[in-house]
Amino acid sequence: MRQHVNPLSRFFQLPRELAKPEELFAQSDQPLHLDIGAARGMFLLELAALQPEWNHLGVEIRLPLVLAAEKDREQRQLRNLSFLFCNANVSLESWLAALPKGQLHRASIQFPDPWFKRRHQKRRVLQPRLLIALAAALEPGRELFIQSDVLPVIEPMLLLVEQSNCFERPEGNLSPWLDTNPLPVSTERERYVRQQGLPIYRRLYQRNQQPLPDLSSLEAAWQQIDNPENGDQS
Ligand SMILES: C[S@@+](CC[C@H](N)C(=O)[O-])C[C@H]1O[C@@H](n2cnc3c(N)ncnc32)[C@H](O)[C@@H]1O
Repeated sequence: MRQHVNPLSRFFQLPRELAKPEELFAQSDQPLHLDIGAARGMFLLELAALQPEWNHLGVEIRLPLVLAAEKDREQRQLRNLSFLFCNANVSLESWLAALPKGQLHRASIQFPDPWFKRRHQKRRVLQPRLLIALAAALEPGRELFIQSDVLPVIEPMLLLVEQSNCFERPEGNLSPWLDTNPLPVSTERERYVRQQGLPIYRRLYQRNQQPLPDLSSLEAAWQQIDNPENGDQS
């Protein structure tokens, strides 16, 4: 199976209407964890079993991975877990906007695809529009967790998050990177990177009280973040 798909290709630009929480989970009013780029789903399959008092949703752009993850979920009879096929940048915004207020407690983006070149900026999973949609759905104190093993991938993401003014690092957590994962389960990529003895860069943010930024200003800032003068190659 191909490792990467081009999220900008016409097929992946078609919006998909994603099922509502009531159709996805046995108890739809539980706190929700959204994992963006869930891949084969092993992380959420394990986490959902460990945290039955939460609902977990994995979204993933590669359909075969979603089908395989859903099959495992069904076999394990996990009713607090679901996997949905979509391009997070096309279909998540309206889904998040329709969520009952306060339901999203945690969002994670873990080891996103390494589109770090400037000309690939639009292919990256965290775009200004998606960040604003997440910030709108997360109430103050709720969490956004990001980790990667590729510095040029995570650095622009963090700059974007901080430029939004909507997120802060929890008090007492101001060292540049978290040494350990705050979640009790590692993703597949995380296990592989650890086995190789390579560094992992992690940040946990909490939603603050600040209002949402204006989309066009955040998009302008995003352009600046990836200005070639900031050290990115074309
Ligand atoms: C490098 S993998 C990491 C998978 C998993 N999070 C882990 O840490 O093992 C990144 C995943 O994000 C998915 N992905 C990339 N862009 C996406 C998008 N726009 N919407 C949804 N999923 C996306 C990829 O297909 C891939 O499965």
